[in-house]
Amino acid sequence: MSTITVRPLREEEIPAAVEVSCAAFGERPTQEEREIYQHSFDVERSLCAFDADTMVGTSLALSLELTLPGPGVLPVGGLTWVAVLPTQRRRGILRQLVAGQFEDMVRRGEPASALIASEGNIYSRFGYGPATSAVSFSVERAQAAFIRPVRAEGRIVLLTDEEAAAELPAIYERIRRLQPGRVTRSDRWWTEYLFDPQEQREGGGGMFHAKYATSPGVADGYVTYRFKEETLGWTSRTTLLVVELLAADPGVYSALWDYVLNTDLVHTVSFSRGRVDEPLRWLLADPRALTVSAMGDDLWIRLLDIPRALHARTYGAAGDIVFEVDDTFLAPNRTTFALRVGQAEIPDIECAVTTARAELALGTSSLAAAYLGGVSFATLAAAGLVRELRQGSVGRADAMFSAATAPYCGTIF
Ligand SMILES: CC(C)(COP(=O)(O)OP(=O)(O)OC[C@H]1O[C@@H](n2cnc3c(N)ncnc32)[C@H](O)[C@@H]1OP(=O)(O)O)[C@@H](O)C(=O)NCCC(=O)NCCS
Repeated sequence: MSTITVRPLREEEIPAAVEVSCAAFGERPTQEEREIYQHSFDVERSLCAFDADTMVGTSLALSLELTLPGPGVLPVGGLTWVAVLPTQRRRGILRQLVAGQFEDMVRRGEPASALIASEGNIYSRFGYGPATSAVSFSVERAQAAFIRPVRAEGRIVLLTDEEAAAELPAIYERIRRLQPGRVTRSDRWWTEYLFDPQEQREGGGGMFHAKYATSPGVADGYVTYRFKEETLGWTSRTTLLVVELLAADPGVYSALWDYVLNTDLVHTVSFSRGRVDEPLRWLLADPRALTVSAMGDDLWIRLLDIPRALHARTYGAAGDIVFEVDDTFLAPNRTTFALRVGQAEIPDIECAVTTARAELALGTSSLAAAYLGGVSFATLAAAGLVRELRQGSVGRADAMFSAATAPYCGTIF
């Protein structure tokens, strides 16, 4: 019987790790893609599985900062490159990798982990919950008149690839702090993203980037998009695929949507990973012009240090709540926490383990799902995932955890 060992990678093992990950994801990378992927691997936070000397599984943690309602920030371990060779699956290798990564994150003082999941049914058993959601939507250009004319004070400028590489990271870095659920993007992340591998193009062409500048030298947002053309006899239908649209304020947001919705030769504008509360619907004269085709999970969160994580965000209302949290992956399995949010303007928040009687009982995955206000405790209770042990506690928890805007990540890592 084989024994699996788990340990960090050595520098010279990075090419093998890329091969294992790509084989697990069913990808045959080109030489150029291999080189980019190798550049993404940071051995220090890697943990790989070996059967004797053969690598059979990979995982990597990224040191990320997550924007919280408030907005505050939380250091999180971003789990990625999780892969086990198809010949070695369902033998507990992922379980070992996740346990090892959690141990390391706790040692580094990260109160939570986050990830983007390849499939929805893998990670709740490890205590992750889908904390943000995204929707795929499209707008037919012919119906896309705005309810009010857009008055843009700035200018939209198309960027070359070199300009995009130089300018987009700084714009993102400023704006990500305004949106709960967003995470930091490293230089490595930008290199891979801007490389724009073929399989991430949704069938379209290469990316275009346009920035919005209010005054010279200051950009307040950008839109990245591509075109997808479908030939229909002697004519064709073109879709403009928005890859991402970032705006520092509502005026920039309207101006960038106005720009993409007024692009000639385009019949449909679509966005496969938009926000669930996208204001665009409210900008349109006919809100039915925006059609949602899918909704799904975006960022998954796993709380590793509940008092620290709950202390870090700000809340919609003052109040007290006592939770009993059942953790089926990490010991101790059941713990009760008291959260108190004071009335003061400056954050006056306490969260600690308590012996007080619990008012709400839930699993760690449900608490993580509700952490940023992306789902209400009432919805989770309706699904049987939260038990109200004292009447009124679900409503009280919802008033405290509610957030003005739906959390959204939008970064695939
Ligand atoms: C997902 C993957 C890493 C799982 O690895 P693995 O070593 O087979 O997982 P384990 O044997 O440790 O499974 C742990 C548990 O998760 C479950 N599980 C694992 N993968 C699952 C999947 N794809 N769907 C549903 N359940 C899954 C197992 O059944 C097991 O359940 P249990 O707790 O009830 O026993 C592997 O299937 C893989 O590489 N898939 C392709 C790449 C991928 O999707 N990676 C994840 C990126 S986010």
